Amino acid sequence: MADLPFFWQTWVVGLIILGLVFLAVLVVRVYFEKDDHDEVVIWDNDLVEGSAPAPFWWFWLITSALIFSVLYMIFYPSFGNYNGLFNLTMEERYSESKADINDKYYKKLNTLNSLDMESLQNSQDAMHLAGNIYAQNCAACHGKDAKGQDVFPNLTDDDWLWGDKPEQIKHSISFGRNAVMPAWGGPLGEEGTTKMAEYIKSISSKTDDDEKHASSKQKYQMFCLGCHGLAKQGNVMLGAPNLADDVWLYGDDIESIKKTIASGRRGVMPAHKDRLSDLQIKLLTAWLKRN
Ligand code: HEC
Ligand code: HEC
Repeated sequence: MADLPFFWQTWVVGLIILGLVFLAVLVVRVYFEKDDHDEVVIWDNDLVEGSAPAPFWWFWLITSALIFSVLYMIFYPSFGNYNGLFNLTMEERYSESKADINDKYYKKLNTLNSLDMESLQNSQDAMHLAGNIYAQNCAACHGKDAKGQDVFPNLTDDDWLWGDKPEQIKHSISFGRNAVMPAWGGPLGEEGTTKMAEYIKSISSKTDDDEKHASSKQKYQMFCLGCHGLAKQGNVMLGAPNLADDVWLYGDDIESIKKTIASGRRGVMPAHKDRLSDLQIKLLTAWLKRN
């Protein structure tokens, strides 16, 4: 805090002195001045003025408050620009705490910045920090324990839509992801969609029947293979999920699969590069990859 200008400094000091003197005089007058008028003043028939003087504990209360105020002003900054015997100033406190932050916080950040993925994962401190960043920025969608919910994928399993390498995960967090599963209700038709859903389900549950699904198989090669792959393994470049495993983003019952195929899906992971620092994203990546 900058020093007060002369006028305000005088104003503040003047007010404080005036206030204290006024209080002191008042106390002395109430308790120690002799009552020198003789006539008895009676109010409301029986209230005699002066018959119940102010209790004496008030005197001690006010006097100790006065002494405390004066002592406080002697030791601590409160009397205009005078800093008190302890010489505490706001600037000093501020720069001390800032130095403290610089020392602890930035030193810690620099150390964290210089660590590689594995060392980060082994640092309890770093993982604790990452857990907090996750809770604040990601838990609302991916769930408190990162196990996913609804259309938000599980981030703790080995199944990655957009790739499991640290670079790919970092990319997902920094730039976000836009998945586009086109709608196939038109080309496939109502019946074709139902059959396709049954075919896809049979692959995932390993009950694929060549004869029963012959026409869907053909259509798969025509419409789906480009993205989901020959072995239905998916494609991390497009975020196209593996259809042969039993991990489902949009539900594994025939109705849900039909809906996915007929109307398409558009999962959006928002970009976080403007919201989080590089270090925060690195910490999150290490945290997600630690399992
Ligand atoms: C508004 C909801 C939302 C928030 C907030 C969000 N995500 Fe996502 N995230 C998604 C969705 C939806 C997807 C799946 C996109 C898709 O369908 O491909 C996703 C996908 C991902 C993926 C790719 C998963 C994979 O299998 O490849 C990662 C990694 C990820 N999110 C991490 C995070 C982290 C870390 C945060 C916090 C910084 C976060 N997300 C915050 C909605 C969200
Ligand atoms: C242009 C690429 C592309 C094509 C072609 C495509 N898909 Fe997809 N598919 C995707 C993407 C990307 C997703 C993930 C959508 C999301 O995350 O929101 C997806 C998701 C799905 C899912 C949901 C999986 C789950 O885990 O819930 C099913 C089922 C599916 N596709 C089936 C098909 C079928 C059947 C065809 C062919 C008729 C097809 N897809 C064609 C890209 C494609």
